[in-house]
Amino acid sequence: MSDFLQNPLVKQIAKAMNLPLPIPALLNRNHQPFSDTEIEHKKVTIIGNENEISKSLHKILNSKCILTTEYENKFDGIIVNATGIQTVEDTTDFFKEAQRLISKINKNARVLILSKEDKTNRESFAVQKSFEGFTRALSKELGKYGTTANHLKITDAIPENIANAILFFLSDKSSFITGQVIELNATNISTSVSNNQLLANKIAIVTGGARGIGAAAAQVLHREGAKVIIVDVPQASDDANALAYEINGEAFLIDITQNDAAEKIQKYVLEKFGKLDILVNNAGITRDKTLAKMSEQQWNSVMQVNLKASINLTEQFIKNGFVEHAKVVGLASISGIAGNVGQTNYSASKAGMIGYMNAISKTTSIYANAVAPGFIETKMTESLPLFVKEGGRRLSTLKQGGLPEDVAELIGFLSSPLSDGINGNCIRVCGGSMIGA
Ligand SMILES: NC(=O)c1ccc[n+]([C@@H]2O[C@H](COP(=O)([O-])OP(=O)(O)OC[C@H]3O[C@@H](n4cnc5c(N)ncnc54)[C@H](O)[C@@H]3O)[C@@H](O)[C@H]2O)c1
Repeated sequence: MSDFLQNPLVKQIAKAMNLPLPIPALLNRNHQPFSDTEIEHKKVTIIGNENEISKSLHKILNSKCILTTEYENKFDGIIVNATGIQTVEDTTDFFKEAQRLISKINKNARVLILSKEDKTNRESFAVQKSFEGFTRALSKELGKYGTTANHLKITDAIPENIANAILFFLSDKSSFITGQVIELNATNISTSVSNNQLLANKIAIVTGGARGIGAAAAQVLHREGAKVIIVDVPQASDDANALAYEINGEAFLIDITQNDAAEKIQKYVLEKFGKLDILVNNAGITRDKTLAKMSEQQWNSVMQVNLKASINLTEQFIKNGFVEHAKVVGLASISGIAGNVGQTNYSASKAGMIGYMNAISKTTSIYANAVAPGFIETKMTESLPLFVKEGGRRLSTLKQGGLPEDVAELIGFLSSPLSDGINGNCIRVCGGSMIGA
């Protein structure tokens, strides 16, 4: 599924007719297994404060990419260490250095800004927070080049976790993620990337895994070594079974809103595999109508599939089945952040999912995060009217819709030890959508 505006013929016609079409940049994407060599070809520089954080990043990243400070180079990645900047006056140097480098950046590059809140000093707190606004604005300026800008708030995080997160956000697995602020906290475990499969011996469930984003997520989890159980409705048996066969996984056909669905899924998984490491709550539906015209049935079906069934299934494994630091990912939506006309039910269910992931992160030893896709090219969005579809694609910093694989790569990262330290976040995969920005 590629964007029709990126078709060379359409480009040629638009150029010949002088049409001001927003031709989106072709994004570099990498769907190979995560590896130590993920960003080895990238020229990366670290600028900003020279403190303990930048020293340890230099040490860790030195063997993973081409770390350079030669300004005649064009960079594929710029890491801006803004931690420790305390006063408004100090931001001038930050501005000058960032400005000097920004013209020295390749297409499809990655900018990552690091901040660290200092709650003991009010001005410093405000200054650190200001870099979040800086990141969001910069992401909008760079989008036309296919370049992304994201922000890591590294409060309490340990260097290995910072480096692992940087690895993902510098990689071509994060091409459709931009303008995001991600919080990294301290955790008790951390894994450096190796050439071994990241998710070897892990057992994973993906609900709604027969097609779309769920199917792409199942493929990524399998690629990284997990045994994947695809849970989907019986009507999706052909797709679910075919995919299960392809990825050497299992298909478990059930409507997750059924009363005993959670118990049945748990029984199946525990009898067959004895534990659950990863749960991706992905199944979702839309039943759009304005509030005035929405039926109770439309409200209930969306709330039940998108939220209640995920809560039931997750709670069932919290009671029994999850390994200690299991990973749970909940599919939200930018509609759950910004709201959308005709989607009071859907937006409520997705905001609820963000809240539920956050609540798990605060009350259990499980790592839980929400992923909020923007406009992604799937069966769910295929049925939208053309005008709405085009709006969804073009009203974004990257001027295009995303692919299920873009969301799947983030799900894979959040399901892996690489994301230790990221807990209770909601990360958008929306190409910098103006909706809810
Ligand atoms: N596609 C997008 O642009 C987009 C944007 C934001 C959020 N999302 C969210 O991402 C998730 C996946 O979206 P998608 O576009 O791949 O959707 P999709 O419609 O292509 O696939 C959804 C899958 O969920 C399954 N499912 C639905 N109800 C179920 C039930 N009761 N029990 C078991 N399985 C059930 C379906 O059979 C289907 O296989 C959803 O939660 C959706 O809300 C998608």
